[in-house]
Amino acid sequence: MKNVFILTGAGISAESGLKTFRDADGLWENFKVDDVASIEGFEKNPKLVHEFYNHLRVQMDKAMPNKAHIAISEFQKKNPDITVNVVTQNVDLLHEKAGTKNVLHMHGRIDETVCLNCGHVVKTLGNTQFDGVCEKCGAKNFLKPNIVFFGEMPMFMDEISDMLKHCDLFVAVGTSGVVYPAAGFVSQAKYYGAQTYLFNLEYTENNYYFDHQVMGKASETLPQFLEKLMF
Ligand code: APR
Repeated sequence: MKNVFILTGAGISAESGLKTFRDADGLWENFKVDDVASIEGFEKNPKLVHEFYNHLRVQMDKAMPNKAHIAISEFQKKNPDITVNVVTQNVDLLHEKAGTKNVLHMHGRIDETVCLNCGHVVKTLGNTQFDGVCEKCGAKNFLKPNIVFFGEMPMFMDEISDMLKHCDLFVAVGTSGVVYPAAGFVSQAKYYGAQTYLFNLEYTENNYYFDHQVMGKASETLPQFLEKLMF
């Protein structure tokens, strides 16, 4: 076994104090998804969308990686001869803070803003505004948080598809499996012959393609699993 694909979702960051989306008291209980995470919502009220992500950016900036993020990073460091690709649906930067390499943010990153006029991406540490001016093309009223909204294509799909074809072990962590295409990655990995594992707090509906499901807190279950994994 030489190739590991790890898909993470909001559940891996829950123990770092960041809200998931669909759990009780999750982000989508307090906000309408259509208002703050759809391209139609952005078109209707870009100011509200920027305010939402400005607030989230402050929380994410303060958050620190937990044992699950660290276990992935250590696993990578201890096994330099194994390819370990991490694809996250999370826009937080906790994998990077834990020192993990090869992380693809398929739903974007909280620390980036994109100009919808020219596609230029800038790092954003402070607040962003829709009526800001793009530093590259000079256009006003085109800045959007570089986060993939419902109605947009996820990023890095070609690279991810290739990784899924070549992985021997597929591990999903802290994801409810309801948002596609990420929810379909397990079936692709399984089709190409990978062993498949899910580490989640509770059973999910969409679990047909998982060979093994380990229920519990990711900070406990994932380190135990990765420490024992032998190649
Ligand atoms: N350890 C493991 N799993 C956990 C933990 C924990 N400590 N806490 C919560 N979970 C699980 C929940 O049981 C739930 O099944 O994490 C899952 C989180 O699911 P969602 O809130 O739906 O998050 P996610 O799957 O990442 O959402 C996918 O939906 O709204 C969009 O773009 C957004 O990237 C997001 C996508």
